[in-house]
Amino acid sequence: MSELDSTPATASVPQQRQEATPPGPLPDVVKEFALVHDAMRHSAGLLVRAADGLAPGSSARAAKLAGFTAALLDFVHHHHTGEDEHWWPALVARSAASGTVLQPLTDDHHELDPLLERLRDQVAPLKGGTHDVAAVRRDATALRDHLLEHLADEEPVLFPLLAEHLEEAEAVRLGKVMAGSAPRSGLPYLLGALDAVATEQEQQVILSKMPPPIRWVRPLLLRRYRKDVAVLTGA
Ligand SMILES: [Fe+2]
Repeated sequence: MSELDSTPATASVPQQRQEATPPGPLPDVVKEFALVHDAMRHSAGLLVRAADGLAPGSSARAAKLAGFTAALLDFVHHHHTGEDEHWWPALVARSAASGTVLQPLTDDHHELDPLLERLRDQVAPLKGGTHDVAAVRRDATALRDHLLEHLADEEPVLFPLLAEHLEEAEAVRLGKVMAGSAPRSGLPYLLGALDAVATEQEQQVILSKMPPPIRWVRPLLLRRYRKDVAVLTGA
């Protein structure tokens, strides 16, 4: 876990996780979802911290925040689309009853979409320094709050379903589908956020399944991530 990136994602994660975690040994797919969700929580916290320190006009922070936010928004959208189009159908195919509890989560993804787009519109002018500081802060905070609420609702529903119904081979197959379609621009931020929320050993459940070239360049990407965080937070 990186000591440089100490932005707290949310103080309530451990309690949420306790409530959401099914009893017994956890399958890898639950561990992977939990890690990715924690990385998203962490990045949303970093987003708001960076937006809170934003000033009017051009700056290194504004330019960095433009790239960071675009990557985060792409990642969140890809994650939710993947849940709706791949993970949920796989669960419903194995347990028709799960559709009843998964549909509200899909509805929630659709409610989040306009928040993603609103923030995307607000950060687009950051590179030119023509952004509206108050609007960036407002929309970053709205996205973080809704995302945290969504994840807190989703995990107690999703984790037991994954543990009970999804066999490992299908989970591995879907994991590859998601990795193969993931936006590449967000990879350094994903690796950095994972490093910020989990130990090296905990990250292995995801890192061990990544293509070797990504694992080879990871130290370089983590160094770049820490520099980016320093610019984003003014550290
Ligand atoms: Fe979700």
